[in-house]
Amino acid sequence: MADLKKGGREEILKLLLLAYPSFISGEEVAHKLGVSRVAVWKEIQKLKARGFPVASGRQGYALLSLPDVLDPPYLCCLLADQPFVQKLVVEKELFSTNTQAKLLAQQGAPEGTLVICEHQKSGRGRMGRSWFSLPGKSLTFSLVVRPPLPPPVSSLALLVGLALAWTLETRGFSPQLKWPNDLLLQGKKVAGVLLESSLEMDLVDYLVVGVGVNLNLLPDEFPSSLREQATSLYIVSGKEWSRVEFLRKFLAVFAPQYHNWKKEGVFTPWIEDYERRSFLRGKKVCASWGKESLEGVAEGIEQDGSLILRVANGERRTLAWGEVSIVS
Ligand code: BTN
Repeated sequence: MADLKKGGREEILKLLLLAYPSFISGEEVAHKLGVSRVAVWKEIQKLKARGFPVASGRQGYALLSLPDVLDPPYLCCLLADQPFVQKLVVEKELFSTNTQAKLLAQQGAPEGTLVICEHQKSGRGRMGRSWFSLPGKSLTFSLVVRPPLPPPVSSLALLVGLALAWTLETRGFSPQLKWPNDLLLQGKKVAGVLLESSLEMDLVDYLVVGVGVNLNLLPDEFPSSLREQATSLYIVSGKEWSRVEFLRKFLAVFAPQYHNWKKEGVFTPWIEDYERRSFLRGKKVCASWGKESLEGVAEGIEQDGSLILRVANGERRTLAWGEVSIVS
């Protein structure tokens, strides 16, 4: 009978994940992998030593929970049922997953490349800001996509925001979206999206979609400058949230929407869903971009993802990018 080589070991993990949360018998695992039951038992001990909570009993083996570890082979197994993910890059530490994803995209990384890390040393936010995260407490990842579209494609960032909102709603939260792509819980920011693009001959070469979610941060773990404006799922719910489960759900929600968006790159089919969750709609806001600014009432979203503002003289203006704050 064959020995379990490294790939085979991960096959055991895959079988446990497929059966999760039920048991799978040692006999079935041995049969499927063409190895002895003793070899299976030995490998289960190794999985336990790696931190996987595997129960052993008369019915066989079962994973007790999905551990929240960014272990590359484990994530590979966990995301094996997500056809969107074509290439997975898992690192302990990076300067920024967006910077790394851009580098990989320049080297030809395919659509569906996912870059994730435990800790970002200099995570980047919109408008040149930094993005704060803590190992184990924040989810930070980037996706490379290559829609064959001409610009503008910024509405993809709104779609990612909406997919994050849907993901949170499946977990019982009531998020709001602040144009263009901030996700708020109880009026405070819980997640953000950074979309970076590269064009070639007036068509998209690649886009990098970076997502940062505050999952398990405590109030005093945020830098004092952010405490008033930022929150986490833990702060709102009093419960810890798993990064890997959140990621898996997000990808399952996002992928089919992305494939529809990619056909034309317009936001029309999602405007109603977005506006229903809009934090700004109907409010008086001040929008700024570059050195310019404008006050008006936020009326809605255009089909290219721009924000519609009704300004004092009744004129309708649209804003393709910028920063918006509520005028009290
Ligand atoms: C914002 O709201 O300003 C956007 C925040 C985006 C942060 C994420 S974290 C993962 C990815 N890598 C980065 O450096 N930034 C994005």
